[in-house]
Amino acid sequence: MGLTLGALLLAAWATRTAYASCAHGTFLSPRAEDGTVEVGKFGYTGTIGPLNWAALDSPANGACATGTRQSPIDMVDGVFELLQGSDVELTVNDMPEGAEFENLGTTVEVITQGGSLKVGDKQFELQQFHFHLPSEHLDNGTSQAMEMHMVFQSEAQEIAVIGTYINIADTSAAAPSKRSRVFGRQEAKPPATGAVAATTLLETIFSVVDKIAVPGTKTTTPPLVMSEVVDVLKANAFQIYSGSLTTPPCSEGVSWHVSTARLGITPATFVKARDVIGFNARFPQNKPGEPNLLMVSALGSAAAAVAAIAGAGAGAAA
Ligand SMILES: *[C@@H]1O[C@H](CO)[C@@H](O)[C@H](O)[C@H]1NC(C)=O
Ligand SMILES: [Zn+2]
Repeated sequence: MGLTLGALLLAAWATRTAYASCAHGTFLSPRAEDGTVEVGKFGYTGTIGPLNWAALDSPANGACATGTRQSPIDMVDGVFELLQGSDVELTVNDMPEGAEFENLGTTVEVITQGGSLKVGDKQFELQQFHFHLPSEHLDNGTSQAMEMHMVFQSEAQEIAVIGTYINIADTSAAAPSKRSRVFGRQEAKPPATGAVAATTLLETIFSVVDKIAVPGTKTTTPPLVMSEVVDVLKANAFQIYSGSLTTPPCSEGVSWHVSTARLGITPATFVKARDVIGFNARFPQNKPGEPNLLMVSALGSAAAAVAAIAGAGAGAAA
């Protein structure tokens, strides 16, 4: 018991240092000036996981446990509005010399070299993009292989994030597998509904992910062409809602744009990414405006404890 409390206090103390979060590179979590890659102290399992983020740095992380507009969420009808991709101005600069690619411990992140998002009269500048595995948002109840977060910040320090699901690509057309060569009929089969082709940008970025297997390390990607993804985003729609960072301090007021587009990653590249990222998805939160699930859970536990005490009392009296 004492040991458990000690471990908790130690964890809480350790996390008072830098946070590397979804908001890395923004005013909420500025990048280190000396170029070192700071490793996040929160995690996704056990006592440093999302059930206990609020306690890791109190009161700074309070919104993680009490906020009522927390992210990610299940993207079901009624929680979002649709915004056509053609109705936003989105530019992301190519990175012909490659980009810095960092392992923050809690995610792998590409440091961008300029880009902007204009929605209505609000202008945001792109800071970085990073990846979650599996997806954090659910697509109408279904998790996807991964999710990419492009993080933008306005001059007024508001944050907008474009979230894009990444599915396992259908590679049967490009390179027939051994299996389909043996069972020739399979090659004639049309791709499954929702099948996506591999996205060159993702294949290029993750071709070097094994070089940053250790948290706190960085490498340089091959040259990155961003128009492929930007064009896909513009040609689809965004499911928009007001939510939060999906990492501590879980700040709200984040303008979410979850794309209806799908990027693709080949199975081999997915495994390579998974071996480095591991698992970094916060559990789906309650619907925007509904009580925080941790408060619901705390009240439920308290009610159960009271009932148990009352039950024990009744038993003793009988
Ligand atoms: C979610 O699935 C239900 C049941 O299939 C469907 O009626 C609904 O339109 C879907 N909503 C979205 C946002 O895709
Ligand atoms: Zn994120």
